[in-house]
Amino acid sequence: MRFWPFASKPREVAVRPLEPRWFADCAQLHARFFARSWAVADFEELTRDRQVMADGAFDGPGKTCFGFAVSRLVAPEAELLSIAVDPRHQGRGIGRQLLKAHFARLAAHGAREVFLEVEQGNSGAIHLYEQFGFAKVGERAGYYPKKDGSRATALVLRAQLS
Ligand SMILES: CC(C)(COP(=O)(O)OP(=O)(O)OC[C@H]1O[C@@H](n2cnc3c(N)ncnc32)[C@H](O)[C@@H]1OP(=O)(O)O)[C@@H](O)C(=O)NCCC(=O)NCCS
Repeated sequence: MRFWPFASKPREVAVRPLEPRWFADCAQLHARFFARSWAVADFEELTRDRQVMADGAFDGPGKTCFGFAVSRLVAPEAELLSIAVDPRHQGRGIGRQLLKAHFARLAAHGAREVFLEVEQGNSGAIHLYEQFGFAKVGERAGYYPKKDGSRATALVLRAQLS
């Protein structure tokens, strides 16, 4: 079992399609984690694309968005483009609920397998993906630009959707 220093019971969230009013929060969250960050305009452009599915994890009344997952679907394949959970709420099962619901929606729209890229050293995300049956199918050296100017290897993972 993993030890989380900040405590905390699992938090139940509602996963729903991401609406434009959340794009500013999501862009801010994205920029915290990724050097190639997405601006509000990127969220707008992505979600105008009919092949893109974007979901958010919300508290019951929908006043807080804890995180998002965005995929491109070209059935029967989908690619998870990005996922992030607010660091103040990580480790409470939100990422798992978000992915479960997001993959269910992809499957309902014809996805049978999902690909994604993850930085080699991102063990938290890799653990989460393994729980969904993801396994390595490739590697891209120097794929990710890092904020310090270096570059990191991406692992390409794939999972079948049931
Ligand atoms: C990856 C991320 C979305 C996980 O969200 P989360 O809400 O913290 O994840 P959960 O609480 O649902 O954890 C689910 C499982 O993921 C794994 N996990 C998540 N974070 C972890 C960490 N820091 N260390 C080890 N395992 C971790 C565990 O296996 C956990 O299962 P367990 O509770 O049975 O041990 C979140 O850490 C995040 O936003 N990271 C920054 C952005 C990022 O790296 N995105 C992925 C890019 S490919």
